[in-house]
Amino acid sequence: MNHNEFNAKASSQVTAVLRSYWRARRYMYIIPAGLALWTLILTISHISSYDDPEHTLERKGRYDPMSTSTLEQNPTAYKPILLNPLPPQEYTHQWPPNIRKPLCMPKIFVYPDSAKMGEFQVTEVPHMGTNYIAEQILLAQLRDKSSSVYKNYVTENPEEADFFYIPFVGSKYLCDCWFTKGIKGDCDVDELYAKPMMRHIREDYPYWNRTWGRDHIMAHPMDSASNYYKTKDVMANATFLTTIGDKRVTSGVDGRSRRYGDIVIPSATALLNLVEGMVPESYLTADGQPLKGKRDILALFGGRYQDVKPEDSYSAGIRSLLFNGLDQQPDYRFAPNWDNSVYTQLLTQSRYGLAPMGYTLDTTRIWEYIAFGVVPVIIADGIIEPFEDDMDWDSFTVRVRRADAHRLDVILRSISEKEYERKREALWTHGRQALLNKDAWNLIVRSLCRKGQLEGLRTINHDHHIPLESTASV
Ligand SMILES: *[C@@H]1O[C@H](CO)[C@@H](O)[C@H](O)[C@H]1NC(C)=O
Ligand SMILES: *[C@@H]1O[C@H](CO)[C@@H](O)[C@H](O)[C@H]1NC(C)=O
Repeated sequence: MNHNEFNAKASSQVTAVLRSYWRARRYMYIIPAGLALWTLILTISHISSYDDPEHTLERKGRYDPMSTSTLEQNPTAYKPILLNPLPPQEYTHQWPPNIRKPLCMPKIFVYPDSAKMGEFQVTEVPHMGTNYIAEQILLAQLRDKSSSVYKNYVTENPEEADFFYIPFVGSKYLCDCWFTKGIKGDCDVDELYAKPMMRHIREDYPYWNRTWGRDHIMAHPMDSASNYYKTKDVMANATFLTTIGDKRVTSGVDGRSRRYGDIVIPSATALLNLVEGMVPESYLTADGQPLKGKRDILALFGGRYQDVKPEDSYSAGIRSLLFNGLDQQPDYRFAPNWDNSVYTQLLTQSRYGLAPMGYTLDTTRIWEYIAFGVVPVIIADGIIEPFEDDMDWDSFTVRVRRADAHRLDVILRSISEKEYERKREALWTHGRQALLNKDAWNLIVRSLCRKGQLEGLRTINHDHHIPLESTASV
């Protein structure tokens, strides 16, 4: 056997061994190789099908996995499955509830005006342009004998009342002094108004002392609630109607927001409540779209932002971040303010309205957005919105955390048309009910029902309540 023959024989033996080995064990190799190839194909098609801008951000490593947003993402390899919706629920198990079905029918007594409450209470003062007239609007509704609020809830007989409304208009006193008369400081508000008001209520009627004020209600619709008054300790047992809703610990320390003591109400605004004959519906179709054209401005904001720095405590710096560059986007509209006719026009054309916190978490402009069918974007961690127990705020707003504020543009652009339309519709049919000139009193009363443990009851007199008929409506 020469060298070549040996080689040929050896190689044919090796080939035979390899062949039989391959025949016996080939599936050990083919199956994993096939699986690996399939995984590779899936991965490539998954990456190339992702044109979501958020994904690009994520790949750049700027995505903070701890932060939350409204964005829907699918980071898995599998397509999501959509199932059929669940069947409708019985009314009593639904949330949010139908707020036209009352939770209880209490009776409210409104103290009549008297010079003993301070001369200011019985003095005519000229109309003033402030955002703080929610107290006057709510009081006027209680006193208007033709209003449904009066007919449903008000009694002229204090002996049969569940609740007592103090017609305190401290914001009106202070704004008359500051803006109309141009005087600075506290304008003697305690000596001339708050003290005589509380003295009259406590000393000339027996009702305050009966519960130490626990069934009394008064409005404080300015940023510092009752903190404008040295008399605030005397007021403290009453339930305040306030525009400040704040879950943060620090705001509890100075008593500005009392989570379970107060009822958060909507704010009045200059555009909605002071412009003569302002009817937002007259600028829109019946389902809340502009009369002509469509909503092609992505987001608007009219307010203070240009001088805000990231480290400022004003707006927790949020306004600095948002408006550095966003104001360059062609489909955003920003300005320190607009005149009413321009602003009204912009409101009819905008999809979203920005509501970043200012000095307080709430901003009055959110009520203008809501009235004009503009979906609010709330950037105010810890805010308590009005009537949260009865209104599904998440259904008609977008919430963005402070930690996510720098991603605002991408967050808004990632919301699908379907999701936007769902929110806009919920805003138009549900969110608008909270407005002062809509169902605010019905919603305040629902909160009072819970506070007074009167759910399911109708008041006959102070000591006698009967079950509320299930068909009752307001
Ligand atoms: C209620 O109590 C206060 C003292 O806490 C007293 O000054 C006031 O006169 C009392 N009011 C009535 C109507 O008795
Ligand atoms: C508030 O309630 C407490 C009892 O909880 C009472 O001692 C106090 O006098 C009340 N304040 C006023 C001004 O009525």
